[in-house]
Amino acid sequence: MTSTGPADGAAPSGTGAAELTTRGTPLVPATEVSTAAAQDANRRWWDSAVPVHLASAFYDVEGWLAEGRGPKAREAAVLGDVSGLDLVHLQCHFGKDTLAWARAGARVSGLDFSQAAIDAARELAQRAGLTERADFVCAPVAEARTALGGRTYDIVYVSLGALCWLPSIDEWAAQVAGLLRPGGRLYLHEVHPVSMALADDDLTLVYSYFEETSPYRDAEAGSYADPTATEAMPGDETFGWNHGMGEIIGALVARGLRIDRLDEHDWTSFPRYPWLIEVAEEEFVIPEGHLRVPLSFTLVASRDGTDVG
Ligand SMILES: C[S@@+](CC[C@H](N)C(=O)[O-])C[C@H]1O[C@@H](n2cnc3c(N)ncnc32)[C@H](O)[C@@H]1O
Repeated sequence: MTSTGPADGAAPSGTGAAELTTRGTPLVPATEVSTAAAQDANRRWWDSAVPVHLASAFYDVEGWLAEGRGPKAREAAVLGDVSGLDLVHLQCHFGKDTLAWARAGARVSGLDFSQAAIDAARELAQRAGLTERADFVCAPVAEARTALGGRTYDIVYVSLGALCWLPSIDEWAAQVAGLLRPGGRLYLHEVHPVSMALADDDLTLVYSYFEETSPYRDAEAGSYADPTATEAMPGDETFGWNHGMGEIIGALVARGLRIDRLDEHDWTSFPRYPWLIEVAEEEFVIPEGHLRVPLSFTLVASRDGTDVG
């Protein structure tokens, strides 16, 4: 898939997968790459994606600035009035979704491990006149609590294409729980792990549904936001991990969060398959006559007053 998740020709380790094939392609785990090297490769890819994404029609930065758009209506409907609340956006990219919440009145922090993304986010905050309510920090998610100076938040917000870059969902859940103050909420909209396990062009299962130690490898040119940008993004390797729904929910519950809401959707925010139909901005649906599979999901969880350590 276009660098939001697992790629063709890769498979989990430790399952005898070297003998498995899918449509003639041997499934080979990326066992030779360490987690640190995989994440370094990912960071380089994301650094190179920033200028491409800033200029893309997909992100439409100039339109967003000109129209003063706030958060997506469906997200605002769930989170309600955020004015005066503290919100942190993990894996904020160049801050467009983060700053949308600042426009709605929240004080926002964005965190991302790409310095290019953080630089662009700070510049976007200036252009949008939102610097007083927004700050951006460059750090990996695994170090979020420390990098954010031990601050806690009313809302942890995570949007599409984030979890697949993280090797451990438990590590992520620990950061989320530690960032939430008592009564705080997690809002997560993510690619569905079933969709992550499927091939790019049809509904064949080709990747592991569960989190594996070894990552999947991707080396597709271009990006989901601009598949034609093959010169700026010629297909450098990236590495990703899938996390099953039970693993995600289990990790949050184990850290003391309560699941308030879980919705599985037959739509997603990007053209996951060439045959999806765009029915609204950032809303791609399965056409009639096709089998319906879950393409994305939204989850809301909350923290009560207990200490999460
Ligand atoms: C698809 S973007 C998600 C943001 C948002 N949905 C959007 O479209 O603007 C994924 C972001 O995750 C960041 N990222 C990937 N791995 C990370 C890690 N381990 N720690 C922090 N950020 C990471 C990348 O730099 C990138 O900006």
